Amino acid sequence: MEIGEHYIVKITDNDINGNGIARIENFVIFILHALKDEELEIEITNINKRYANAKIIKFIKKSNKRCDVACKSYSKCGGCAFLHVNKDIENEIKLDDINKLFNKNIKEILTNNEFNYRNKATFHIKNNTIGYYSEKTHDIVQFDDCLILDNRINEIYKYFKKSSLNNIDNIIVRVTTNEIMVIINGNLKEFNYKELVEKYNINSLYLNDKLIYGNAYILEIFNNLKYTIYPNAFFQINYDNMKILYDKVREYAGKGNKLIDLYCGTGTISLYLSDNFKNVLGIEINKEAILNANINKKLNNITNVEYICGDASILKKDNYDVIVLDPPRSGLSTKLIDKINDIEPTKIVYVSCNYKTLKRDIDLLNKYNLTKIECVNMFSKTKHIEVICLLEKI
Ligand SMILES: C[S@@+](CC[C@H](N)C(=O)[O-])C[C@H]1O[C@@H](n2cnc3c(N)ncnc32)[C@H](O)[C@@H]1O
Repeated sequence: MEIGEHYIVKITDNDINGNGIARIENFVIFILHALKDEELEIEITNINKRYANAKIIKFIKKSNKRCDVACKSYSKCGGCAFLHVNKDIENEIKLDDINKLFNKNIKEILTNNEFNYRNKATFHIKNNTIGYYSEKTHDIVQFDDCLILDNRINEIYKYFKKSSLNNIDNIIVRVTTNEIMVIINGNLKEFNYKELVEKYNINSLYLNDKLIYGNAYILEIFNNLKYTIYPNAFFQINYDNMKILYDKVREYAGKGNKLIDLYCGTGTISLYLSDNFKNVLGIEINKEAILNANINKKLNNITNVEYICGDASILKKDNYDVIVLDPPRSGLSTKLIDKINDIEPTKIVYVSCNYKTLKRDIDLLNKYNLTKIECVNMFSKTKHIEVICLLEKI
């Protein structure tokens, strides 16, 4: 087999990355955006030891599950994996993978939206061209409207697309329900922001680490709680589905005496659950997020929550009723898993944006049964999905 060669194949399966899978003499080929049962002429684009990648050249038999793609940059960008199918097929593919891994029969992915949900985007700049990095490369991919971005971010992107971008490396745009933050990073000392700020009602504008216009943070309101967000603090990127997720965390955690919220970010979960517990502690490594968490606690007049800035594994032994875990994709460290196994909280609520590391960690939390598991489509159209689990002590 060589790069550039053409083959006729039948797709036997789909994967979570938006590929169809075929075999040529038992050698696995991943074909970008192909669908199960399709017959295709393909061209090999990349060859590895155990598999090859290919692109579609011609449809011999097209799946009736295929739908029109409204994004011209789909095959170059790599941000989305499921624009060529509707929501039901995307969910079927995602659930199939999760159910196999966890040996479960989850039937539904909870969601409130499908498009225009992302409240944060990073645009990279090369040779005065602004766009996303194409997957696995630093090539710039331009687009007209990104289908998963909040439309206010699309408009700001189009503004920069027409502007001079000399000495700018990247631009980050974040929005909340009512506010907008723009962060411009690069080798420039000043930025003429008047037109941008007035045209798009920007509330906060940073040049590198320096605030050059407006407020130091933007504000989101969730269930009557106010949350401030600094430029480098994490915030859930899908506000409508964050509501579903946090209500599930609240339901799974129940009520009790002591709750610990590990990887607490700006304190969103701990503050939302604080009325159901006597004492709440949040731990988070990002200094800006902890600053936000402490501001948020005061802003909402909540007095039974404390925050510590540090690695999640610094938690001390105590009688916790519930530990909430919401780590980044890499999941938990073995040091933290050993600590949790030693502390033995009654319940663990584990929120994960990577179900593979979630499964690995759950298997190591060996004093617990997985009693509930549900999925929230926080990242519709992409290969990612949020999974929430309740683990109860055996
Ligand atoms: C997926 S976010 C969850 C934040 C929060 N629970 C929320 O819903 O907004 C993960 C958070 O973990 C933090 N983090 C990453 N590594 C950490 C570590 N070793 N210890 C503590 N926090 C960490 C990140 O800064 C980020 O805020």
